[in-house]
Amino acid sequence: MVHLGVNIDHVATLRQARYAGESTAATPEPDVLDAARAAMQGGADSITLHVREDRRHMQEEDALCVRREVPLPLNLEMGATESMLAVASRVRPNFVCLVPERRQELTTEGGLDVCARRAQLRELVAALTAQGSRVSMFIAPEPEQIHASAELGAPMVELHTGRFANTAAHEQEEELQRLIRAASLAHSLGLEVHAGHGIRLAHLSQIARIPYLSELNIGHTIIARAVFVGLEQAVCEMKRAIAELSPSFP
Ligand code: PXP
Repeated sequence: MVHLGVNIDHVATLRQARYAGESTAATPEPDVLDAARAAMQGGADSITLHVREDRRHMQEEDALCVRREVPLPLNLEMGATESMLAVASRVRPNFVCLVPERRQELTTEGGLDVCARRAQLRELVAALTAQGSRVSMFIAPEPEQIHASAELGAPMVELHTGRFANTAAHEQEEELQRLIRAASLAHSLGLEVHAGHGIRLAHLSQIARIPYLSELNIGHTIIARAVFVGLEQAVCEMKRAIAELSPSFP
């Protein structure tokens, strides 16, 4: 069955909207730990947090707290930098997903350029692996990025589905074919294949055509749905839809 990693960054986005930099007697809400627990109750297989360089939503303390208190694997998304390596060495997440990061972007907009940063990423992957975190590279579904990820020793790739999710319906098939070819190539090189970004319930039947997927990472649409039905229920709906489709995931 394809695993569901639930990204709860936007719970912290809501908290920071009111409490960023404010010293207050009130306990900041919503509580990220409550969110992680609700996601677990709803059937999440792992919890994903992105501690960004500008700390716009998740803080290091959130990651430490979820790692300590929630009995699910923690997947830490982070930029490929020395300062984030230091954060990861304090948090010790089960998984690290290396992502490109630009301060101006609203969300992670493109894949990591593994080809252009081979030497630096090789060292980072080795250091993270040595501390016990399994590393994935968040990359566009491009053959050269997949080859480079395998070469430098990452065991997993997360294929960026953002272009597929956000493109006009008549162009989606082309992007889906790129994802299908990328997943096959990654699998043939011994990489574990994940996918994420922009995925909604309505995309799942198409996403299920991508072979060898073992995990989907989904955030925004689950948090958006949670506003109306609660987080546990929103995760449960996504999990059920993935489970129903799982036999058709090749
Ligand atoms: N995977 C990665 C690497 C991401 O950066 C994000 C967004 O933070 C996601 C998955 C989840 O994307 P979305 O919030 O659009 O579901």
